[in-house]
Amino acid sequence: MYLSHRPRRLRRTAAIRGLVRETHLQPADLIFPMFVTEGKKLRDPITTMPGQFRFSVNELVKECEELFELGIGAVNLFGYSTEKDDQATKAYDPNGLVQRAIRALKKSVPDLCVQTDIALDPYTHHGHDGLVVGDEIVNDETVEVLCKMALSHANEGVDWVAPSDMMDGRVGAIRYSLDQAGFQNVGILAYSAKYASCFYGPFRGALDSAPKTGDKKTYQMDPANAREALHEIAMDIEEGADVVMVKPALAYLDIIAQARASFDIPIAAYNVSGEYSMIVAAAERGWVDQDRAMMESLLAIKRAGADMILTYFAKDAAKLMKQDFGRMV
Ligand code: PBG
Repeated sequence: MYLSHRPRRLRRTAAIRGLVRETHLQPADLIFPMFVTEGKKLRDPITTMPGQFRFSVNELVKECEELFELGIGAVNLFGYSTEKDDQATKAYDPNGLVQRAIRALKKSVPDLCVQTDIALDPYTHHGHDGLVVGDEIVNDETVEVLCKMALSHANEGVDWVAPSDMMDGRVGAIRYSLDQAGFQNVGILAYSAKYASCFYGPFRGALDSAPKTGDKKTYQMDPANAREALHEIAMDIEEGADVVMVKPALAYLDIIAQARASFDIPIAAYNVSGEYSMIVAAAERGWVDQDRAMMESLLAIKRAGADMILTYFAKDAAKLMKQDFGRMV
């Protein structure tokens, strides 16, 4: 049969496929989200996320040294707080858990980009990302607390703060507070298009942070909306975000792609806990190959247009990339 085009010619060998491959993953693309807990010499397994741990500060440092050796340049920290109240006072305690973790990391692995989550849910007993008055998650009062939290992290030398709360105007307010205090070099990774998603379930198990009443639909976005995501991203850029994020990643690849086409600043995507645990659970049953499912997912997120990916697979993926990534895909 005469055919003017035979696309299969470019798929014939691994070497040829390597030449025409459009998307490449590298450890430097990955950000590892990590959970910090009180205690000493602790690696506390997270039941809802097999393979993930809550680290005490000294273990966190050890793990981060290893990650940095593997080529992972950044981590994003979440505090597992057992001291919760309705004002989230532990969120901005100068000697709080995350504050101590930043201090220890900047001392031991100074070149690692240390990022921290900015939201109140691990520190409030109601589990909402903001302060609650009556039935309302109040916006402006919450933003004030978020600014204090960001400043307390900046004081310890954090590289980037990552507001994940979805309050209006928080990026601009945090930028202003940081600048006023002389922290012009602290970056803002904004969770700009963060959807009210069921895929955060395992994470809320990890931090014991599920909302006690109601849901997060009055601040996180409706999964049905795409244009609104672009509006949110445009506002965060206007307010001074250095990097904008789409979250979750896999069910929202269209949003990542649209954001990529519309904006020129760096885009992050969060491969969230549910996306992680679903693959691990299916692999435990022998239904998918965990390594291949992980690599295919991360590659798809990058192909959609993400410059960087927050993923619980970061360490495993970086190890594989060192070994035989060429043969993985
Ligand atoms: C808290 C926060 C959440 C996640 C990151 N920051 C949970 C939520 O919004 O309920 C989810 C991360 C994940 O599922 O991996 N503001």
